[in-house]
Amino acid sequence: MSLNRALIFLGPPGAGKGTQSKRLAAVLGVPHLSTGDMLRDAVVRGSELGRMAAPMMERGELVPDAIVMGMVEERIALRDCAGGFIFDGFPRTIPQAEHLDRILARLGYGKPLVVEFHVSAETLLRRVAGRWTCSVGGETYNVYERPPRVAGICDNDGGKLIQRADDRAEIVRERMAAYERQTKPLADYYRDHGVLEVIDGTAPVEDVHRELLGIVRRTDDKRDGHL
Ligand code: AP5
Repeated sequence: MSLNRALIFLGPPGAGKGTQSKRLAAVLGVPHLSTGDMLRDAVVRGSELGRMAAPMMERGELVPDAIVMGMVEERIALRDCAGGFIFDGFPRTIPQAEHLDRILARLGYGKPLVVEFHVSAETLLRRVAGRWTCSVGGETYNVYERPPRVAGICDNDGGKLIQRADDRAEIVRERMAAYERQTKPLADYYRDHGVLEVIDGTAPVEDVHRELLGIVRRTDDKRDGHL
């Protein structure tokens, strides 16, 4: 199955965007582009971009559009994106979405496919509170829903599991508020463009994965004029 376009996962903190994009990217053989991971990486490296982004991320606020757009534009111009790519946590504002439309048109990708994850606020808070991530390979676990075999150690590569600094309850509330205010309007934006699909993100990880594969296949058939 091919992707050959931008697939955008839209959803609040803890909706499962990262979990699902890693799996789907592996199956489709395309890059998983998480702007959150790129920014956290820049913070760890202490680059100029990282130093600018760090205080906003610590407060649970969005990083300015200009910083994110520059980072994304550079990344999708790389050769490994030629067969399509999955955006996890991007775009997050209407200006980012409009700018992305222009870049995709310029690079000849056409319309993106956008999937919005629906998950209740109560489940989101529990998921974020229980999340642990591998410091080596980035695999995500959850102490309530999907614990590692050995506490604190990644099943895949033995890496140490760590918690994100912005997963503290008061910061998560800020991130959720930022989502409602700045990112949720993107659902209407993409619905108006006829590219929005909605899924129940509360289903088990495997079921969500299967549904996503079905959406990619079905929308691909439509593009090819098979339906
Ligand atoms: P970012 O890193 O993008 O975080 P986020 O959007 O808040 O999303 P999360 O990573 O918290 O959740 P997720 O949906 O990926 O859930 P996950 O799969 O891990 O952004 C961080 C910060 O960077 C922002 O606050 C902002 O400052 C900045 N930033 C990033 N992009 C930006 C942009 N474009 N513009 C401006 N600023 C930007 O799952 C969560 C947990 O649930 C895990 O433990 C997982 O195991 C579990 N789980 C997942 N799915 C299921 C399931 N189906 N059933 C049971 N458990 C599940």
